[in-house]
Amino acid sequence: MATLMGWVQSRRDHGGLIFIDLRDREGITQVVFNPTLSPDIHKQAHDLRSEDVIAVGGKVEARPEGTVNIHLSTGQVELIADELEILNPSKTPPFPIEDNVLVSENLRLKYRYLDLRRPRMLANLRRRHQILRVVRNFLDGYGFIEVETPQLTKSTPEGARDYLVPSRVNPGQFYALPQSPQLFKQILMVAGIERYYQVARCFRDEDLRSDRQPEFTQIDFELSFVDRDDILSLMETMLTEVFQMVKGLRLSTPFPRLSYQEAMERYGSDKPDLRFGLEIHDVSSLAADSSFQVFQETLNRKGVVKAMVLDGKATLSRKELDELTEAAKALGAKGLAWVKVSPEGFESPIVKFLGEPLLRKLSVALSAKAGDLLLFVADQLKVAREVMGGLRVQLAERFQLIPADQFRFVWVTDFPLLEYDETEQRYVAMHHPFTSPLDEDLPLLETDPKRVRAKAYDLVLNGSEIGGGSIRIHRREIQSGMFKLLGIDPVSAQEKFGFLLEAFEYGAPPHGGIAFGLDRLAMILSGAESIRDVIAFPKTQKAICLLSDAPSHVTEQQLKELHIKTDIVE
Ligand code: AMO
Ligand code: AMP
Repeated sequence: MATLMGWVQSRRDHGGLIFIDLRDREGITQVVFNPTLSPDIHKQAHDLRSEDVIAVGGKVEARPEGTVNIHLSTGQVELIADELEILNPSKTPPFPIEDNVLVSENLRLKYRYLDLRRPRMLANLRRRHQILRVVRNFLDGYGFIEVETPQLTKSTPEGARDYLVPSRVNPGQFYALPQSPQLFKQILMVAGIERYYQVARCFRDEDLRSDRQPEFTQIDFELSFVDRDDILSLMETMLTEVFQMVKGLRLSTPFPRLSYQEAMERYGSDKPDLRFGLEIHDVSSLAADSSFQVFQETLNRKGVVKAMVLDGKATLSRKELDELTEAAKALGAKGLAWVKVSPEGFESPIVKFLGEPLLRKLSVALSAKAGDLLLFVADQLKVAREVMGGLRVQLAERFQLIPADQFRFVWVTDFPLLEYDETEQRYVAMHHPFTSPLDEDLPLLETDPKRVRAKAYDLVLNGSEIGGGSIRIHRREIQSGMFKLLGIDPVSAQEKFGFLLEAFEYGAPPHGGIAFGLDRLAMILSGAESIRDVIAFPKTQKAICLLSDAPSHVTEQQLKELHIKTDIVE
C-alpha cells in the first residue's frame, strides 16, 4: 500500500479506466482508476483537472506488458488507486506545466510558482543548490569561514549605480545596498580571518541584460598571505570538484591563461570564447603596401588593419556579404572589406587596389587556402578590436562553429590598472581602487600610469565572465598614491573608505580574493540562455518583479517618516 501526493499533470479516460499522470518534484507516476475495483473513487477521478492537488492511495504494480513507458523513470510501474482525496482543486493554469511550451516570459514571471513547477526549472534550482553544496563542502575542507557582511552599508567601489535605502532615524541619510562585500571582506583579513567566503547577495543599479540582474549572487572569497597563483589554483580545484559532482565531467587543469593584452589582440575581447578559433590578426604592416585608400588613410592616422579568416566561406553570396558588412557597421565599423580566395586567384571589389602579389602575401600570413573568405577592418585600434571581437562571436553563432557541451575556461590576467574615462576626464580603476599594481610596473605609476598593469584576473567560461578578483593593495601609502591617480582627494577618500584606510594602519596582512557570479555559473551549467532561468524570482529588463509587482508606491505617511518628498507629477 502506497500513498502519493502531488499535482494532476493530465487525465486520460480510456473506456472504463481513468489514467492520471501524477506529478511531484521527483517526476511523473501513472495512477490507474478502475471502475470495477473502486467504483466510488473512479467516479471522483472523472472530475480531476490539471494542477489539482491530490493524495492517492493504492497498490504499486508492474505495468502490463506493452504499456511500459521508457521515457519515465517510473515507467515500469503504476499505482492502482483505491483511495483518493482532493487536497485542493486548481483553477485552469494560464499555461500547461510542461517543458516545451511556447509561453511569453512575462506570463512565466507573473505566475512564477507555476513556471517553477516545470521540470526544467525545478532541475535548474536543484542544480544551483547542488553547486552551492559542493562549494560549501569544499571550502569547509580548506578551512574557510563563511561570514555575513551588512546589506545596509555604504557605497562600495564596483562602479555601478547604488541602490539607496533612506534611514528613518537619521533623516536625510541613506544606506547603500552593497555592490559587493569588497570593503568588508578586506577588513575581515585585517581582523585575521585569513580564509573568508560568503554566498553574498549584491545589488547594482545598471542596465540589465540576459546575464545581468539588479540583485545577483556572488560566491565571494578573500584570503591572506597568498599570491595570485595560490588563488587561481585553489579556484581551479574547486571548480573541478563542482563540474565533477554536478556534471560528471573531468576538467583539465591548470586552465589556460591569457594576458589581457593577448586576449584583446587575438580575440578582440577580454572575455574570449575559446570554443572556436576565428582568431584576429594584425596585417597593418602588409596593408601599408597597398594602394587601397581606406587602408592608407587609416594607417596614416595611426590606425590598424585587422583581418580574420573564415574557413571555406568563399561560397557566400553577395547578399550574405552585405549582411556581414551591415553587422560590422552595427558594431561600429566604417566598412568591411572582403576577399574570396579561389584556386584561380582572388575575388573582391578591392583586388585592383591590393594587387595579386600583396594578396598572396596576405594569404600566406593568414594561412588562408583556396575556398576561404578573408575579412578586413581598418580603424583605430580600439574600434577595430571591438568590431572584430564582436564579429567573431556573431560569425561563430551564424555558421554554427560553437561545439555543444564544451566548457572552455580561460583566466585573463594582467589587466590594465586604470582606464581613461573620457566623460569624466580622469583615470578610473579598471577593477576597483584597491587592486594592486604589478610590482614591476610600480615605477610607471609616476611616469606612465596607463601602462601600469594590475594584479587582477577574470575567469572566463565559454565567453562569459564568471568571476573576477585581484591581489589588493595593503599598504596605506600605495593606496593613497592610487587615490591621487584616480583624482580622489584625501577628504573624499576619507569620507568614502576611511574605515578601510584606517584599518590598513593596524597591521593589514597581504591579501587578495575573487568573486564568482553564481547565477552565470549556474546558467552555463544548466545550458540556459538567461540567468533569469536559474533565479527563482528574477526581475525583468526594467527591474520589475512581475510576481510581486515591486517596485511600488508607498504611502504619504511612509515618505513623511523618512523625510522624503518626491517631485513626480502624476
Ligand atoms: P566583479 O564586479 O567582477 O568583482 O563581480 C564578480 C562577478 O559577479 C558577476 N556579476 C554579475 N552577475 C549577474 N548580474 C550582475 N549585474 C553582475 N555583476 C557582476 C560576474 C562577475 O565576474 N568585489 C569584486 C571581486 C573581488 O575583487 O574579489 C567584484 O565584485 O560573474
Ligand atoms: P568604399 O571605398 O567606401 O566604397 O569601400 C570599398 C570597400 O571597402 C567596401 O566593401 C567597404 O565596406 C570597405 N571598407 C570601407 N571602409 C572600411 C574600413 N574602415 N575597413 C575595412 N573595410 C572598409
